[in-house]
This record gives sequence, C-alpha cells and structure tokens, in this order.
Amino acid sequence: MFPIRLAVLASGSGSNAENIYNYFSSNKNIEIAVIISNKADAYVHKRAERLGIASLTMSKSDLSDSEKMLSLLRKYQIDFIVLAGYLLRIPSGLIEAYPHRIVNIHPALLPKFGGKGMYGDRVHEAVVEAGEKESGITIHYVNENYDEGDIVFQAKCPVLEKDSPDAVASKVHALEYKYFPSVIDRVLRKEFPDCF
Ligand code: GRF
Repeated sequence: MFPIRLAVLASGSGSNAENIYNYFSSNKNIEIAVIISNKADAYVHKRAERLGIASLTMSKSDLSDSEKMLSLLRKYQIDFIVLAGYLLRIPSGLIEAYPHRIVNIHPALLPKFGGKGMYGDRVHEAVVEAGEKESGITIHYVNENYDEGDIVFQAKCPVLEKDSPDAVASKVHALEYKYFPSVIDRVLRKEFPDCF
C-alpha cells in the first residue's frame, strides 16, 4: 500500500501542484512521482524542475491514448492521479484502470458552472454574470465526462455584488490551496465513501 505514488496532470501554472508537493513533502508515505502536461511551455515544468520532480509533456493524441498513458503510469508505478488545472479529457481505459483513483478540482460549485469549455477565468466570469451569491471549489472523482464524476468535497465562499471575476478567482484559489492537498490526503486514507 505505502508509499503511494501520485501523478499530477496540469496544463498551466501549477500552483496547486506545488502546493500539493509542499503538503506531502514531509510525508514519506505519499509522493508526487511525476507531473504530466499537454503543454511544453506550461509554467508547471519550471516549478517541477525547481522542486526536483520529474515532469514531461505529452501530445494531445498520446494523452487520449489509454495504452500509452497506462504504460507511462506503469513505468512510474503510479497509484493515484490528481488533475490540477488539467484541461483535457481522460480516456476511458485510464478511468477503468484507476477506478476512484483520479480526482479533479473544479473552481466552482458543481454541478453549476462545469462542463466542456468551463475552465479558468470563464468560470468566474459566468458566476459573476449569473449574479451568484456564492462560489467555491469542488473536488470530485473523474469519469468520462468533464466535471461529472462523484463529488468528494465542496467548500464555499461568498460572492459579493461588487466582486469582479478576478476577486472571485482569488477567493476560490484560497480555498483550493487550503483544502485540495488535505482532501487528497483524506481520500488516500480512505476517509470518504468509495475511496480506492
Ligand atoms: C485552478 O483554479 C483549478 O481549479 C482549475 O485550474 C486552475 C489551475 O491553477 N482547474 P494552477 O495551474 O494550479 O495554478
């Protein structure tokens, strides 16, 4: 069972990936073994280099090829996958091979403001536009559809009338940093129903 080896998939800055790394850095039982991105110029690679984590870029077609993904994950002996700002769909063979072993974080309260194309600033713009009184984060298991897997955890923040999308983004990021690593930890400790 231990140590548990994580793969983090990220398409952008990777601030969540770094936060997760920091959270587990003193834990000998859980480690990020590799960071995988679909973008060669994603800032997450710079963070990985600084932190001494292996990181690599794969093409969109390789990332949607279950066999290629599985062989890579086998090479790194990956037990559990974390999507942290990852923008592509996960192929079904991978979901079958990692049942309830893939989690994603979404920067809104699903099932609202999710689905294809709902990522980054677009989510916060839609929340403000809709006149929502609250937003937050959703951490969920991953299935074949964007943002539709079983929800593991949600946390909320208020959205005030004067809040811009950027202001909402800041509140949501704060929730991500506060909760994502510890929720992953709790999933790995099987503290939620249907943990792997
Ligand atoms: C986060 O807001 C996450 O919820 C969303 O993409 C963003 C990633 O930020 N899915 P970062 O790359 O971790 O800085």
